[in-house]
This record gives sequence, C-alpha cells and structure tokens, in this order.
Amino acid sequence: MDELLQGLRAAAERTRLRIVGLCAHAELTVSDLSEILGQSQPRVSRHLKLLVEAGLLERHQEGSWAYYRLADGASAAGDLARLLVDLMPEDDPVLGLDLERLDAVKQAWAVKAAAYFHRHATDWDRIRALHIDQARVDAALKRLFARAPARDLLDIGTGTGHVLQVLGDEVEAAIGIDRSRDMLLVARANIHRAGLRHCQVRQADMMHLPFAGATADAVTFHMVLHYAEDPAGAIAEAARVLRPGGRLIIVDFAPHRREELREQHAHRWLGFADSRIETFLTEAGLVPSAPERLEGEPLTVVLWHGTRPANAAASSTAAQTAG
Ligand SMILES: C[S@@+](CC[C@H](N)C(=O)[O-])C[C@H]1O[C@@H](n2cnc3c(N)ncnc32)[C@H](O)[C@@H]1O
Repeated sequence: MDELLQGLRAAAERTRLRIVGLCAHAELTVSDLSEILGQSQPRVSRHLKLLVEAGLLERHQEGSWAYYRLADGASAAGDLARLLVDLMPEDDPVLGLDLERLDAVKQAWAVKAAAYFHRHATDWDRIRALHIDQARVDAALKRLFARAPARDLLDIGTGTGHVLQVLGDEVEAAIGIDRSRDMLLVARANIHRAGLRHCQVRQADMMHLPFAGATADAVTFHMVLHYAEDPAGAIAEAARVLRPGGRLIIVDFAPHRREELREQHAHRWLGFADSRIETFLTEAGLVPSAPERLEGEPLTVVLWHGTRPANAAASSTAAQTAG
C-alpha cells in the first residue's frame, strides 16, 4: 500500500508523468531528457530522483553517465509504471511532441555513430584490434558456432564483414547487413578477396531487418550492440528472424570505465552486464546460455548466446490464434 501511494504521489505531476512516458521508449540520460522536455538539467534531475525513489524508474550508472529506464514489472511500483504508460492517451499533443523530440535525439546518436564509421571505414579493422584480441575472440566465436550446425547466418552490423570472413566457411549462405554504406564498400571488397561467393552484404537498419520471420539459423552481433540506440529492440528484432532452434550470438564488452570511448569512438554503452543481456534475450523469447568471458586488460570481451525454443513458432501461432 505504501509503495503504491508513493508511486502515485511521484507520478501525479505533469513533467514526471511525461518522463515516465519517455523512459518507456528508451533508456535516457538527464541530458537527453532535459533536451526533450526543454527544462534545465537540475530540474530534470530532481524529478528523476523522486521517480527513482518511488520505484517507477530504475537508474543505471555507466561511468560518469546515468541512464534511466522504466522499472521492471517485478514490483508494485514497476506494475504501476507500466499501467500509467498504457493509460497515456495516444493523441495527447504534449506526449506526441515528446516522442517526436525523442526521435530527434535518437537520430542525433545515430548521426554521430554514422559520421564515425564514415570517417573510419577503411581503418576499422585496425581500430577494432586496438581494443580486443581478435584472434582469441575469433577462436571462441568459431568454437561456440561449431556447437550447433547452421545452414545460414545473418551478421547484423557486419561493418567490414569480419564475421562473414570468420564463419563464412561454416555455412551454406551468409548475409551481413549494415547501416553504413562506407563500411559495406570495404565489406564487399573483403568478401570478394576471400572468395566467399555464398556471402553477401546489404544496407539495412538493425531495427527493421528486411527479412521475414524465422528465416535464419544463426544471427550474430559482433561489437555492434555498444553502438545500438536501443539494444533490447535490436535483440528482439534479431530474435524475430531466427528459426525455432536457431541461435543468437552476441560478442561485446563487459562493463568498463573507458569513458573516452564515447567521445573518441562514438560508443553509446560502456559494455554490458550479463544480467542485462540475459534480460534482453529472455524478453525477446530466447533461452540464454552461460556466457563465455575472455578476460582482458583493460577490456574484457564476453560471448553471450540465446536459443529460440524449438516450439517457438507453434506457440506464437497459437498466441495469435487465441488473440
Ligand atoms: C563497431 S562496428 C562492428 C563491425 C563488425 N561487426 C566488426 O566487428 O568488425 C559497428 C557496426 O554497426 C553498424 N551499425 C550501427 N548501428 C546500426 C544500425 N542501426 N543498423 C545497422 N548497422 C548499424 C555500424 O555502421 C558499424 O559498421
């Protein structure tokens, strides 16, 4: 009862209700929210503090930045937060404008990353090798991939086509997608040079994959998720194209404190905790397996993977029929 009352009191204010609505769509920083709401950062911070104390939002610290997201449904306040979001009128002009401004903020993140890859397409392979022991990661990826056979592979955020070169020989067909034309130019040349005729690349956004559902045996994200504006959404979209029994493999950094990677290399996230990735995988309908950690100085790389249950198609068809 007390938790519910505190939640209701915290939400009963116009700006705070707008913040709850916005955090249902993305994990946002004080600076993102202050830009969207047109209010000063100290003022927005005060609202956020109240919403976190009331349990409607969760705060997640990453280096010097804090991200705010809607609390999960495991508490009364979390349930209340979701209920409030469901009740928000879709045609409300203020909320509509907030979502338009949120889109503009997300676009700005995307533009920053795109400009970075435009500048660095031709020396990306060298830059990647500065942060990870590529031979070690490739060996671990091959081992993991070999655990279950796959006929076709989709590599999301393929960049210069590295994963296609590492795993291409293991599959009958592989396709890499990327948003950056500059990266894809390099990828095409690399694939051609490696004689991988059964591999191809195409320009696409990971949030809207140009493929029907249940069409790939394996999907990979290799050093991509820390650039994603919405990692949970990207994983859900990847899970959609997985066949029942298919696997999603994510290779990325464990949480780290290298702040400069944000400014110098356009990273959006300073690595991922196992629990966070597991939540994303589970929410996407996948069954997570134990991750593999490749400890390193200063950056540790982790391979996470999740499997789409073999009966997934049947259960989603049943759910649609029931709905
Ligand atoms: C760090 S690079 C990794 C490339 C490659 N996987 C590798 O490990 O070498 C990240 C790639 O993700 C791509 N990317 C970022 N956001 C994307 C999006 N929304 N849709 C598709 N590709 C995206 C970038 O263009 C870039 O090529």
